[in-house]
This record gives sequence, C-alpha cells and structure tokens, in this order.
Amino acid sequence: MFSMINPAPPTVKDDLPHIGAGLRFAHSPTRYLQALREEYGDVFLLDVFGYQLFCVFSAPALKSLYAVAEEDASFGMATFDMMGFKTPLEIFMDADIDLFYALLVQERVQGYLNSFNKVLAVELERWGDEGELDVFDAVRTLEQRIGFDVWMGSEASSDQYWQKFKVPFDVLSQENAFVNPQATLNTLISNKSEERQALADLHCLIGEIVDQRHQQDCWPDDTLTFLYQRFQSEDEQLTRRKLTHNLVNANQGFLSNLYAAIAWVLINTVRYPEHGERLCSEVDRTRQQYGGDFCYQQSALDSMTFCEQMLMESTRIAQRSLTLRKVMRGIEFDCGGVSYSLPAGIYIATMLSVTNTQTDELAEFNPDRYQGRRLKPEYVEQGKETISTFGHGRHACPAQKFSHNMCKVVLSTLLQRYRFTDLSGDLEPSAQQMGGVSRTAATALLRYQSIP
Ligand code: HEM
Repeated sequence: MFSMINPAPPTVKDDLPHIGAGLRFAHSPTRYLQALREEYGDVFLLDVFGYQLFCVFSAPALKSLYAVAEEDASFGMATFDMMGFKTPLEIFMDADIDLFYALLVQERVQGYLNSFNKVLAVELERWGDEGELDVFDAVRTLEQRIGFDVWMGSEASSDQYWQKFKVPFDVLSQENAFVNPQATLNTLISNKSEERQALADLHCLIGEIVDQRHQQDCWPDDTLTFLYQRFQSEDEQLTRRKLTHNLVNANQGFLSNLYAAIAWVLINTVRYPEHGERLCSEVDRTRQQYGGDFCYQQSALDSMTFCEQMLMESTRIAQRSLTLRKVMRGIEFDCGGVSYSLPAGIYIATMLSVTNTQTDELAEFNPDRYQGRRLKPEYVEQGKETISTFGHGRHACPAQKFSHNMCKVVLSTLLQRYRFTDLSGDLEPSAQQMGGVSRTAATALLRYQSIP
C-alpha cells in the first residue's frame, strides 16, 4: 500500500508494525499526532492497526480534505468503518443520512423548543433545590431524555419509559468504543451480542409505543409519527425495523457531541467568572426584552450572540473529532506544494484537536474570538479549515442551529434557577478521547443551589 502513494509521503516508523503505533494512538491520539507532526511534518502516513491514515494538518491539505467529492473519498464509508466496530451493521442498512436534513429544517427546529423546555423542567425537578453534579453525566442524561422527546415523542421521555430507553441506548453508545480497548475487544469477540440485545429491546419498546398509538388511533405531530409515515409499507415488520434503526441513528447522532459541548459551556461559565457574568447579563436582558417565556421564542434565542460565542469557543477547545474520508478510487490529492496520488482503501485523516489549539494564543479560552458563530478572520489567515468546530464543506454539521438553540435553552434555564459553585476536577479535555467533543480528563464536579 505504501508504495502505491506517489510520491511516497513521510511514513511513520514503529518497532512493532501496525500495533505499536496503534497502541500509542489509542492511548493519547491528540498528543501522539502532535508529536508525529513535529517529527514528520504536516503530511505523513501512519499505520494504525492496519488502517492506513494519510494524516494532513497543513492549510492547503485541509482545504483539499473538506473539498473532496464523496464518490472519490467518502465520509459515509469512513463513518461506517469507524462505527462498525460497535454498532450492529443492520442499523446502517436502513439508516438514511438525508433524514437528518429533513428533521433539521427550520420549522421543525423551532418546534423542538417545546420539547427542550418541557423535559428540562421535569429533569430539574429531579435535580431538586441543591446538590452536586457530575457535570458531564448530568448534562448527558438531561440531553438524552430531551432527545427521547424530540426524536421519539412524549411517551418515550415520560417517567414510565425514559429509563427503559436509557439502558439499551447506553449499551449502544459509541463513546467508549475507542477509549476502552477492552470493551471494544469484548464487543468484537461476542459478535456484538450485547449491542444486538439492546437493539432488540429498543425494537420492542418502540413497538409498544406504535401499538399504543394504533390502539388509541392517536398520532401526534412528532418525529415518531413523521418517520412511521415515511417508512410505512404493506410489510409492517419492515416499517418497524426501518423506524427503529433510524430512531437509533437519530438519537445516537444527536448525543454524540452536543451534551459535552453544553457541559463545557456550563463549566466555562463558572470557571471564568467574567464570561459567566456576561452570559447571565445576556439571559437577563433577553428575558426583559422578550418576556419570561423567551426560551420558547426563536427570535429571542437568535439575539443571544454571547451564548453562541461561548458554545463555539468551548467546542473549539474541546473538539477531539478524528475527521476521516475513505478513498474510494485512485485520486490526486493536493497538499499545497505537493500533489499525492492516493489509492483506494486509504483514509485521509485529520484530528481537530491538533490544529484547533496549535499556537499558544489559540490554546487560550477567549469567546471574543467569535462574533456570534463566526470566527474573526485574523485567527484563520492561512485558511478557514485550520480551525473547525462544526466542520466545513459538504459534510459540515446540519445541526448547528439546533445545537445553539439547545445550549441557549439549557444555560438560560440553569442560570436563572441555580447558583453554581465549587467547580473541581481536572478541567482539561481528556487526552484519551478520540472522536467528538471530549469530556474533561477527570470527573468535573459542580455544586448547585436554587436562587431564592
Ligand atoms: C456541539 C454540537 C455538535 C458538534 C460540535 C458537531 C460537529 C460536527 C462535525 C465536525 C461534523 C463534520 C464531520 C466531518 O466532516 O467528518 C458533523 C457532521 C454531522 N453532524 Fe454534527 N455536531 C454537533 C451536533 C450534532 C447534532 C445535535 C446532530 C443531530 C441532531 C448532528 C448531526 C450531524 C450529521 C448528520 C452530520 C453529517 C452531515 C453530512 O454528512 O452531511 N450533529 N458534526
């Protein structure tokens, strides 16, 4: 494979072919890639457990990565290969990426505000008036339950069902697949038996809700109804299979980055009091201007540009996405001074954490780098692709507005209700994490108390 790349790129040497680099990569992908970049430069070839990663970090090569056509180097196939370690393949057979675009159109995104507010109120009743949060776990559970309402309907987020859904969804979660090699090994050895059981459980739970809706002949205007109608066929089994697989896909995609990004905004609000005060002032100002129900109004949320800056900056620093494209046929790939012929089967790869904080200045937290969601041009003079939060090009995240909405609703509600103190833990992004917005290196704890 190496010799098929023309000209030959700098190639990472390791005493243990395939495995040595693989273990180092799995242990701390960001630090390992940073060290390799210092040694080999901005473009090099790395063999990770037999996967050939053509790693790129220079501005022109990143531009080429985000511009490459799907049929030449595929986002979809790379995602399939990465997630296929853990996710039962039958889900991919039915999952339709275009559905995300249908579910994230403007009117639907506004409609989800009701779910955000409703479930948040119920969950905060569980939090009570005071206590201590494990920030990432608490925000994850909160978002997960909101997601059940958004993607499946009010039955799924109800007291009767939400914990029943949580258990199998947690089994299917991709989060630990790469940071915990033992868990991944168990998944592979058992031929994903736990994951398949979780999927079967979800099929039954979703089936129960569909049965209830049939019996009561009551189909609310929500995502479950929308998808059920979309997949409706004469074969009810097939309809339900497609419904389940797409609902699993929607819930998983939804949970993969957003909860951690919101958790970071909460942490940074407390960690940097001057920014926390600005955010609280913005919340107060918005309430005064739009009224007490401003979290239900899209125009009110749109006016909260400082909250957007907090989300963008928190995400920029905590991003650990490994961005991959799988080469599907021989292509010429322009890396600036040199153009490489890449054969099918290789992955073009970059890791956002390596470039997002590559200077001392960029390593600092400063929400004023952004004007609303836009990064000021002086930070990306070499090319906009050198910093990424929600991605670039044709595969850039379609859920950016949705994500900002949720962050604004969650933070506004929390900051109006509670005072947060005693933040503790190792508040750096985890070095081990690969993929998505990371958690902190060690559990982040935060005390909260109702504001009288
Ligand atoms: C802070 C929250 C989020 C961040 C930082 C984020 C980040 C990203 C990034 C970097 C990409 C591009 C990946 C690449 O180029 O390889 C992406 C794509 C995508 N994201 Fe997000 N995301 C977030 C939230 C969400 C949510 C909530 C959903 C679902 C509701 C979602 C669904 C998707 C989908 C479907 C794609 C693929 C788009 C395509 O291929 O056309 N994301 N996201």
